[in-house]
Amino acid sequence: MKIPLIKPFITDDLKNSVLKVLDSGYLTEGPVTHEFENSFKEFIGSNYAIAVTSCTTGLEVALRCLNIGPGDEVIVPDYTYPATAQVVAIVGATAVIVDVHADSMLIDYNAIEAAISKKTKAVIPVSIFGNPLDYDHLKRIKEKYNVFIIEDAACSIGASFKGKNVGVWADISVFSLHPRKFITTGEGGMITTENDAWAEWMNSYKHFGMNMKNSNRESIRFDMIGTNYKLSNILSAVGLAQMKHIDELLDNRITLANNYKNLLAQVEGIQIPATHPEAIHSYQSFCIFIDNRDQVMTRMRENGVEVQIGTYSLHKHTAFQNNPLVRLDGMMRNSSVVFDHCLTLPLYYGLSIVEQKYIVDLLNQTMNDHT
Ligand SMILES: Cc1ncc(COP(=O)(O)O)c(C=O)c1O
Repeated sequence: MKIPLIKPFITDDLKNSVLKVLDSGYLTEGPVTHEFENSFKEFIGSNYAIAVTSCTTGLEVALRCLNIGPGDEVIVPDYTYPATAQVVAIVGATAVIVDVHADSMLIDYNAIEAAISKKTKAVIPVSIFGNPLDYDHLKRIKEKYNVFIIEDAACSIGASFKGKNVGVWADISVFSLHPRKFITTGEGGMITTENDAWAEWMNSYKHFGMNMKNSNRESIRFDMIGTNYKLSNILSAVGLAQMKHIDELLDNRITLANNYKNLLAQVEGIQIPATHPEAIHSYQSFCIFIDNRDQVMTRMRENGVEVQIGTYSLHKHTAFQNNPLVRLDGMMRNSSVVFDHCLTLPLYYGLSIVEQKYIVDLLNQTMNDHT
């Protein structure tokens, strides 16, 4: 049996909607992008959704919008995709990297407080793999220290906390539309916020600093230096077609995750990462903690099951060592443990229960061979 890690959700309807855009000749950002943004914001429940070229560029836009730059510090977790910290250096600020909780893999709230200085302007917590943060705790930190919360919600479309979706809790949230996410445009990102002025600024910035109030070309004004982070109509058609199925896709992921939990309950030596009791995990990735992760991962791949590590421990990488725009605050012990033990299992729409049983049986067998 061959089981991939992911399969993007591509239907005939989706292909037809892309063809329609191609036939229309209107390929750059346009009405399809705006429809995609509207559908995204309605699903999240946010006031605004702004499409951009990636989560990385979206995070950069968010930092620039909050006027964060040289001399400022931004706190980020060590266990995350490198983009979370790289965007801080891209705007010229210092990324202060702190440890995560070993059970949930989420940023350690005490470590945030310990790392806060007079220069701290923002925290970028990551709802890693679709596991929501404790937004009550983050709100207390925000109010106590007067810092912005920019959520790296790359993996968290459909995750929620206390009945409200990820995307409405932070000052600004940024989602990824990379193919590892279950709504994907190939490459792309979406920013959400409740703040009118920030939404206007971010929308203008990604349109070359254009004043977006004038609709006809001859009266367009460029009010500030901006850039081009627009998402094309072509890519937006892909995202929009998937948004039409988002509830079904999300329900399916949660069912598959529950199947895994039931099947894994019979396997010794496995720990499932912790989720806040009032949160709903959207399972961008279904992760487990095991011993001998690398040997198990290799054997499972040899047997046709594409398993993967979780994500990265930034402090182990050259980009974040001896870099004047990076400060490692602490020993990152939990991040290292999580990095060594986390294994991601296949999860995609269409994965059958027979395949899930095969994956768990193989995992069980492989783990027994390595104890
Ligand atoms: C936590 C996190 N942040 C940021 C990114 C970067 O997203 P993008 O590829 O859309 O720039 C990723 C991508 O996987 C991610 O997992």
